Amino acid sequence: MATATLPQVWRGRSGRAYVPADTRGSIRHGNMATVRKVIGKGGPVGTSTVADGVPLALKLWNEGGDDGSLEQFHAESRTLFELSTRRGDIPCPRLYDLVGSPVVTGMIMEWCPVDLERWWGEKLAEPEAFGRLMATLAESARRLDDYHRFTEKNGNPGAHGDLKSSNILLDIRGRWLISDFGHARIAPPEDNPLITGVIAGGTQSFLAPEVLFHARQPFPAAIDTWGLAAVAYSLVALRRVVLEGTSAPRNGSHAPRFRMHRMDQVLALFDKAPTRFKGKHLAPAAFPDPLTLPEADRTAIAEALRGVFGAEDPDREAALTEAFALVIERATSIDPSHRYTSANDLAVAFEEVATQFISLASARVEAGMATKPAEPGDDGKAVQLESQLEELKREVERLRDSAKEVEEVEATGAPDSGGQSWLMALVIVLVIGGMAALGAVMLVMGIGLALFAL
Ligand SMILES: Nc1ncnc2c1ncn2[C@@H]1O[C@H](COP(=O)(O)OP(=O)(O)OP(=O)(O)O)[C@@H](O)[C@H]1O
Ligand SMILES: [Mg+2]
Repeated sequence: MATATLPQVWRGRSGRAYVPADTRGSIRHGNMATVRKVIGKGGPVGTSTVADGVPLALKLWNEGGDDGSLEQFHAESRTLFELSTRRGDIPCPRLYDLVGSPVVTGMIMEWCPVDLERWWGEKLAEPEAFGRLMATLAESARRLDDYHRFTEKNGNPGAHGDLKSSNILLDIRGRWLISDFGHARIAPPEDNPLITGVIAGGTQSFLAPEVLFHARQPFPAAIDTWGLAAVAYSLVALRRVVLEGTSAPRNGSHAPRFRMHRMDQVLALFDKAPTRFKGKHLAPAAFPDPLTLPEADRTAIAEALRGVFGAEDPDREAALTEAFALVIERATSIDPSHRYTSANDLAVAFEEVATQFISLASARVEAGMATKPAEPGDDGKAVQLESQLEELKREVERLRDSAKEVEEVEATGAPDSGGQSWLMALVIVLVIGGMAALGAVMLVMGIGLALFAL
């Protein structure tokens, strides 16, 4: 006998109702939360919410998690709230509503169809894929830079601290955004106990050593340049496994086998002496290869980039390996002051690798080596590749232009595009509510004192 299931409805604090969007693959699981695709009902509120029927993401805290996980969820919702009150583009999916009363257990935000892990899984076999990945990482680094500046302006410089490919999302406009800001907030020089939760969450593949060791964090942005470079390495390493048809692990590039050897060295030291640098600066000399990339990592990159131009081409692959390995080497220097201490610098470095990929691939097309060995139809493939490279070139240029625009806007003040009126209204309501509550308390106290006096 079929059992009737009750329709699921979540009520937002704005008064809107949210119901599941009826599509396949619309529930995504994380360690501490589950993300569902939903649609809002009850009409837009003010000018700041999206219309009924537009897909949104409902991120629900996994009930049964410990207090630490709820605290982490709240830290994330507070950061998202602060970022979402900003006008113009923000570095993360925009928050539209909160679910749960009195305790927030859900966030309604912009729906992002794909994350970097899934995008790369589908893309990596294409001939121009590596260049696209570099452009994507550059764009992600610019979003991180935006966040770092935001925390600096607030007087509390911080980092994302939990970068991984499932936290880099493509929105419906085709912009790459970063999710989970505030999830692992790191405010130097104090340690954040929540970081332990991140380690337990199994993301140590991408964790900067100063975070792992709870050491001092003199360059917060360098925590994220390490993280993004480690993500880049793991995605590139995943390429080889997928192309060879070996089944990729369920957790994809997050699996320990795609971790940098450099990180294995760091973890080995951590296992021996986890408190060695607690509250202190890291001593790079305590680590093997503190400033140079371990040879095993360089070899793994070379191996992963085999055939990256569509066919084997040892000389050009060696040139590309060198360019990419140099960026990874600097970004994952044990000494944070030797890393890219601004995410913007890392963005420029990834763009340069993308440009180098384009010029090496274009040179192959020019030399008639688009595929090897020559087969009938190769001319067509070469033309197709040429136009894909042109498109990629334009994408990298667009990226640089938009970065320049952001810098100009930063210098002249933020543009006024689209308000977050309900969020502002909520703040005003909370302030007025607080004042009213205070007034009431004072009135009661006054009456109490009067009665006492009587
Ligand atoms: N706004 C969004 N739109 C669409 N999918 C999202 C959105 N935010 C997160 N996701 C996806 O939902 C899944 C769960 O996200 P969540 O942040 O809870 O977990 P996670 O980052 O994989 O792991 P962790 O729990 O350690 O943070 C991930 O695959 C993520 O890419
Ligand atoms: Mg996430």
